[in-house]
Amino acid sequence: MKYTISLTKTENSKLGGVDFNNIPFGRHFSDHIFIADFDGENWVNPRIEPFANFSIHPACMGLHYGQSIFEGMKATKTLDGQPMLFRPEMHAARMNASARRMCMPEIPESLFLQGLDMLVGVDADWIPPQEGSALYLRPLMFANDEFIGVRPSAKYKFIIMTGPVGPYYPKPVRLMAENHFVRAVNGSTGEAKAAGNYAGAMLPTKMAQEKGFDQVMWLESPEFKYIQEVGTMNIFFVINGVTITPVTDGAILKGITRDSIITLLREEGYPVEVRRITIDELVAAYKAGTLEEVFGAGTAAVVSHVSHIQYDELLMELPPVEGRKISRWVKDHIDGLRSGRFEDTHGWVVPVGVFQEEEVPA
Ligand SMILES: Cc1ncc(COP(=O)(O)O)c(C=O)c1O
Repeated sequence: MKYTISLTKTENSKLGGVDFNNIPFGRHFSDHIFIADFDGENWVNPRIEPFANFSIHPACMGLHYGQSIFEGMKATKTLDGQPMLFRPEMHAARMNASARRMCMPEIPESLFLQGLDMLVGVDADWIPPQEGSALYLRPLMFANDEFIGVRPSAKYKFIIMTGPVGPYYPKPVRLMAENHFVRAVNGSTGEAKAAGNYAGAMLPTKMAQEKGFDQVMWLESPEFKYIQEVGTMNIFFVINGVTITPVTDGAILKGITRDSIITLLREEGYPVEVRRITIDELVAAYKAGTLEEVFGAGTAAVVSHVSHIQYDELLMELPPVEGRKISRWVKDHIDGLRSGRFEDTHGWVVPVGVFQEEEVPA
């Protein structure tokens, strides 16, 4: 289905005030925003407007009961300046998987993709040209009924905002394996990209940061043995030349970067195991000298090298980044796919403009 998305352009671009060589993550917002409303039955009034505050009723259900889900994506430019999206259909599908879990209406794939595509096209000048930098895209849907009382909202707002970003973790990260607090268990909302998952993670993350770590590495309750993921990333370990990542079994976000990495490594002939892995296996490999690399993977961080992992009294110091063959290869490959340095044989990198021209299934 082809949506008619109205466009009102800003007369006061803020682009001149942004230094692309020095962009902190999450602080700059581009000139325009996409908005669509769910009126209880249909998605209506899709529009692109100048980026501005909107007013919210104090009883907005999303604020009270947490029906709020989002995505995190990136648009980049190829070396010859063409704006591109990375795996947008997969993000649209995950948004709808989150919507189902949180009892929210699904967004037709064509509305998600056309809104995103048009918005990025309108603000294409906001895409930083440097490899490793990008235009971060934040689709968000929240409950918008004005009602006090616990039930699913009837009305929702779907917005997409964007902003230029530099690298998320400019240096290798220090992780603390968490053996008291828990992010998610099977059957909870861990697999959804739901705002509340992040809220619940803030106290343990703050406590870990006060001890000198960047992020928590989550372990599965109640045993606190099986490794799940890291704050905003999935996690990978290279033990004896084999790359291992936890299976996403209902409590872990199904990362799109994770999926891309597994595919790329297997195609390159690197052995990859997707399975449950315990912290004890990790400690044993560390002590035996076979834990070669640890890295996190996510849209924001792309591939983020891990320098240390604390578990109980043990601080594991991992080998220097310079010698890390697999994570360096995979980071370079994903950056290179996004910039067009490597050929995209999977159809992952989609030129901006495609969803305006083609009829996409509703
Ligand atoms: C909790 C969590 N896990 C994993 C990821 C990585 O997912 P993706 O690669 O799709 O960005 C993210 C980032 O979105 C995240 O927030």
